[in-house]
Amino acid sequence: MSRKIILDCDPGHDDALAIMLTVASPELELLGVTTTYGNVGLDDTTRNALQILELCGSHVPVYRGASLPLVRDRISAEFVHGKSGLEGPALPLPSRGAETTRAVDFIIQSVLENPHEVTLCPIGAMTNVATAMRLEPKIIPLIQEIVLMGGGTELGNWTPAAEFNILCDPHAAHIIFSSGANVTMFGLNVTHQALAMPQHIAAIRAGGNRTSLIAAELLEFFKVAYHQRYGYEGPALHDPCVIAYLIQPDLFKLEGMNVTVDISDGPSFGRTVCDIYNVLNLPENARVAMKVDADGYFDLIAKRLATLP
Ligand code: BDR
Ligand code: CA
Repeated sequence: MSRKIILDCDPGHDDALAIMLTVASPELELLGVTTTYGNVGLDDTTRNALQILELCGSHVPVYRGASLPLVRDRISAEFVHGKSGLEGPALPLPSRGAETTRAVDFIIQSVLENPHEVTLCPIGAMTNVATAMRLEPKIIPLIQEIVLMGGGTELGNWTPAAEFNILCDPHAAHIIFSSGANVTMFGLNVTHQALAMPQHIAAIRAGGNRTSLIAAELLEFFKVAYHQRYGYEGPALHDPCVIAYLIQPDLFKLEGMNVTVDISDGPSFGRTVCDIYNVLNLPENARVAMKVDADGYFDLIAKRLATLP
């Protein structure tokens, strides 16, 4: 039986590959794609999600979500993803629009109708999932798992302490981590082990189908931004880690620990404080990915994307 998931995203180059990998994976039943502001504004991320689904030949519904964070002002990442959020290759125009139902209502309804069977995958700002929890707290124990990309055990990428997705809406992330839900976190400590090196991009390109060729072009664009900003030889392919874990968990090594999001004003605003050594003796509230088999990860992506149109 395939696993029901909702992909909550802000495409975004790595989000785009996460959507492709999901659509290409029969182990997953994608109930819907929900969008959020994040890398760029909500109109752009929603259009980008529709364009990537069009490319993949998928008719999965798309639901618009939050356009602003709960408390703080909005930040964005055009510097990394370009003005549209998906600069690089030309993408097909979407032949349809988003649904009229809001993302938060779709999340609540899906979880209530499928108790303990829906996995939420936030790979952008955490506002939609946190708002769903606040609007209908009954969903919290009914969510099968929240597998998110955000935070990290060590460094930040948008401030020295904070990772971008969490920094977009630290209060929302705090709601999720303190909710009691079953949370699995893929942070920078693991996604920075998943750098798309030239041989990985070449293997994706070698798929030869249109989706693989576009994925390779997206990675080439992403690579330049990563090199300029962080000096990396390859871009960190963050978001598809969440999906790869659901398909092939043995690619990753995880550890249970207590994770708190710093929502105090100051230089650590938005940091995920991860108690790796259990010095606080607090209950574990998250499983945190620590290691990835990067070659296995990119091999999975290349093979799956090659099955798409
Ligand atoms: C995260 O931030 C976004 O720019 C990426 O899409 C990813 O979700 C990495 O920090
Ligand atoms: Ca993202």
